[in-house]
Amino acid sequence: MSTTLPVFSAPPAEMIFDEWYPALRSDKLRVGQKQKVLLLGVPLLVGRKNDGSVFALRDLCPHRGIPLSAGWFDGEHVTCKYHGWEFEPCSGQCTLIPSLTQHDSLDASKIYSGAYPCVESDGFAWVFMPSPGAGRLDAKKIAKLPPVPVLPKFSDKFKGIYLTADLPCNVDHGIIGLMDPAHGPFVHQAWWWRSRSSIHEKSKKFEPIPQGFRMSSHKPSVNSAPYKLLGVYGQDFTTTIDFVLPNRRFETIRCGDKWFASMTTVTPVTPTTCRIDVVGAWNIFMRVPFVLPIVRFFGNRFVGQDQQTMVEQAEGLRYNPALMLIDDADKPAKWYFALKQARLEGRKTHPLKKPVTLHWRS
Ligand code: FES
Ligand SMILES: [Fe+2]
Repeated sequence: MSTTLPVFSAPPAEMIFDEWYPALRSDKLRVGQKQKVLLLGVPLLVGRKNDGSVFALRDLCPHRGIPLSAGWFDGEHVTCKYHGWEFEPCSGQCTLIPSLTQHDSLDASKIYSGAYPCVESDGFAWVFMPSPGAGRLDAKKIAKLPPVPVLPKFSDKFKGIYLTADLPCNVDHGIIGLMDPAHGPFVHQAWWWRSRSSIHEKSKKFEPIPQGFRMSSHKPSVNSAPYKLLGVYGQDFTTTIDFVLPNRRFETIRCGDKWFASMTTVTPVTPTTCRIDVVGAWNIFMRVPFVLPIVRFFGNRFVGQDQQTMVEQAEGLRYNPALMLIDDADKPAKWYFALKQARLEGRKTHPLKKPVTLHWRS
């Protein structure tokens, strides 16, 4: 879902480097093609080689800084438009400097353009974004990288969906919007989802997990329509929601061998803007016709409601107002900020020492 976003500068957020981020949908990359992408404020040239492998280069020539995207890609090498230097795009290694003669001692193969690890998974090209100035990631360092996040699937056969929206706010607002339980009855009120009058008190248990927290396995709230539909499979549904730094929310709903899972990421495009991506998969209602377009329609409406709200919020945020986080509804947001701060400062502390129960009305 894409709308024209207002152009003004919103407050920036610090970004977490040394993590995998979804750069773009990998079906946008056909063999021999390249795309420009902004990720964490870094211009990237992402493409697919003839052998099918995907790559991500910093979109700046190491010679004089012209974007490599201005040049050519033949499925094997990226050629700079300015002086024709050629690069192998997976390693970034320079393979040719056309101006060199026998009289030069410069070894082109010692020169690298910035290349970032790039892997295809769940329909995304994921790019590992090292801290600025970290230097080149050689094979030894790449072997030690954390794994690419994966949408969990619990059967061989399933259906899937992808939704996205650009958000005009920084990644922190995108993320706390994602974990905010109190906006549902207002932002997402609709006859098919839930109404404001359905608000009731809820108690949810949370527990610490590495780099995040989990809303412990519980029975889904019955005041939203999708969960009512699941009732056809019986009453034994349980749902678990994890948040994991830097930007990931996993939701899993299970009932015997029936399941639904989603992975939502909020990715900084620049320090002041972000993009939300949702991938979902399920093996429920497999034989009901039109489930996919229906899910897509309502999913887009849902994400669009969040997007619209954040466009409106961004209008207020440009005046840099003081903001509040209240207990208990904003407690997950407080944990997020504490986890992020600890991460940025290289501390191992966790804001959640033991499982706790939060109470709110929504
Ligand atoms: S600027 Fe790219 S080859 Fe000179
Ligand atoms: Fe929402």
